[in-house]
Amino acid sequence: MKKNRLKYAGYSLFILLLALTLAASSNDKKTVNDEMGVFIDSLINEMTIEEKAGQLTLYTSGWTVTGPQLRDDYVEELKAGRAGNLFNAHTVDYAIKLQKIAVEETRLGIPLLFGLDVIHGYKTTFPIPLAEAASWDLALIEKTARLSAKEASSAGINWTYNPMVDIARDPRWGRVAEGTGEDVYLGSLMAAAKVRGYQGTDLSHHATVMACVKHFAAYGAAQAGRDYHTVDLSDRVLRETYLPPFKAALDAGATTVMTSFNELDGLPASGNHYLMTEILRDEWGFDGFVVTDYTAINEMVPHGVVANNKEAAALAFNAGVEMDMQGGVYSKYIPELIKEGQIEESRLDAYVRRVLEMKYRLGLFEDPYRYLNADREKETLFSKELMDHALELAKESIVLLKNENIKGGPVLPLSKSTKSIALIGPLADNQKDMLGTWHVAGDESKAITLLKGIQEVAPDVSINYARGVSFQGSGSSGFAKALQAARKSDVVVMALGENYQQSGEAASRSEIGLPANQLELLRQIHALGKPVVLLVMAGRPITLEWSDQNIPAILNTWHLGTMAGKAIAEVLFGDHNPSGKLTMTFPRNAGQIPIYYNMKNTGRPFDAKNKYTSKYIDVANEPLYPFGHGLGYSDFSYSEISMNKKEMTQNETLSLSVNIKNRGKHDGKEIVQLYIRDLVGSVTRPVKELKGFQKVAIKAGESRKVTFSISSNDLAFYTRDMSHKAEPGAFEVFVGTSSAKGVSAKFSLK
Ligand code: NOJ
Repeated sequence: MKKNRLKYAGYSLFILLLALTLAASSNDKKTVNDEMGVFIDSLINEMTIEEKAGQLTLYTSGWTVTGPQLRDDYVEELKAGRAGNLFNAHTVDYAIKLQKIAVEETRLGIPLLFGLDVIHGYKTTFPIPLAEAASWDLALIEKTARLSAKEASSAGINWTYNPMVDIARDPRWGRVAEGTGEDVYLGSLMAAAKVRGYQGTDLSHHATVMACVKHFAAYGAAQAGRDYHTVDLSDRVLRETYLPPFKAALDAGATTVMTSFNELDGLPASGNHYLMTEILRDEWGFDGFVVTDYTAINEMVPHGVVANNKEAAALAFNAGVEMDMQGGVYSKYIPELIKEGQIEESRLDAYVRRVLEMKYRLGLFEDPYRYLNADREKETLFSKELMDHALELAKESIVLLKNENIKGGPVLPLSKSTKSIALIGPLADNQKDMLGTWHVAGDESKAITLLKGIQEVAPDVSINYARGVSFQGSGSSGFAKALQAARKSDVVVMALGENYQQSGEAASRSEIGLPANQLELLRQIHALGKPVVLLVMAGRPITLEWSDQNIPAILNTWHLGTMAGKAIAEVLFGDHNPSGKLTMTFPRNAGQIPIYYNMKNTGRPFDAKNKYTSKYIDVANEPLYPFGHGLGYSDFSYSEISMNKKEMTQNETLSLSVNIKNRGKHDGKEIVQLYIRDLVGSVTRPVKELKGFQKVAIKAGESRKVTFSISSNDLAFYTRDMSHKAEPGAFEVFVGTSSAKGVSAKFSLK
């Protein structure tokens, strides 16, 4: 450590020691910041332009069959100080080797940042984010991030490229799996919870990591759901729908932001001054740093807004982007661009300062090996704390879409005294796909399959397993065995859906139903007349219209991570009463897309009797399963709304409540949702907007009063002149079990 400090040639050891002593002893943030400022300024004074550009450069390490490996030319770049940051370089052993190069073999010994896509866990894999969102449980979500940080940081990571906060209303887009769904309010709260979880209250603590909120901005609005495709939005929609989760994440303290691949208003995000400087810095006062997405600067050439990489580097730099991920163009062209006067050195210094500040705040100057402790790594990976959370969260993420009565009672939960079940499908005895998309370092060998989960949870039930069908393709050679398994069983459980590569980045689909062959097997099994439970395992909303019409019980179980099989089995057999609710609308068919609950009314709202109203002639307007939908084994009834007043002023709050009764036989949890509609605005307003929710536990036979309060802040929007405020007038409020079902009342704002 001392060695490292002495590396800073020409830098006064006295100032450094003073800084470190004061930083350690003082609670005064300003003093710490001043000391950091002095330290970093003197370091910058020592740096060459090449070394400065190096601090703005991030390269990936690769993992080969023989283990982790950094390209030889990157090692050379590291040693020369031309690359100051790495990603995909994890595990303590490997990261120590690399950090040593930076600390001991470069002129100034500036430590490296180690980044990774810790999206839903590091080794212990939690449910995909879209599944996690279905828990509507901010405390659990914060805990996921905190535990992910703990596990990843134990393996050397100090920077995660998460949360992804892109609002997404097109389930064809594969990356919906990585976000929290379609809603701005919910997405904003979840974004903030994740940032709090990752970063904690002390960035220099060895168990916290920097969060990187991504992808700035509007990546989720790719046309036709095709990844990386064009985005074209009004400023109103950008600000109302796509930006709020970013703002919420930054307000929660997110230290870094990642640019998106898409263009916005004709300019790729990585070269977009409006986004990176006017909004992020000038309006929001962001003081962390921006990193591009992977080679996103270089991609401005094929986008067609610059002729070559050098022009691309200048455009990104002048737009306000600090760090170049993997493109290598900052390192290559910044020195030249400075010489030519195309970019300013004072700006370069400001960018480098922001990066070094983060290294300082992470505590890397004090101890570059702070995150590199092999004992801690060993005791943290897959620890009980992590595995317990993985199970709890997986259970909370499951959404019961349908549960019909047959033979006098609901199909689910299944009885543990059921004699035999047929367990069929490509996801029934499958470890890898349980982990879902972007599971980076996740270890499939630790994943619990559904077959194993059922064996553990219901050991007396005899299981007739058959894979039956593969994910895609048309072969039916497995059908006979599956049909035979079904014939000899009392109940059939079908585990169908997508494999882990069918959602996520670069995995857009034009049809989002169950793959044809899987559906065909489901139809043939259904024709046998046995009770069938369909488990849908996927990284996106799937169109399930035939299944909804024919299959009595459907559980949406997403890709739930390491503990998937156990969680699903507990729900199937009633050890856990499901309470998850969809945070993305499930359409009837892909033709309804984009579809989301908070649409506008139009001038010709749906009227079945009038042809010339806004509708399809071949499908309903309503989705199959709306936003907020999710059943359980309880049966909740809602009273009418009672309010403390019918009229409020801008400074008042209105309080309203409903009584909810659990009329069922099972104790359960209900996610009670509050929606508001502004009936007349200076611009059109959505038919409903989520403004509150509570997840409440209610015992069988008991009632609970749930109270919400509404302030004018909840009623604010971008008015016709783009000021953000609430307009006086009439409002409708809905409280319900989903965005489509509930009780309503009216009030007004004076
Ligand atoms: C590309 C993805 O878009 C981004 O989300 C991710 O963080 C980077 N690759 C790095 O893996």
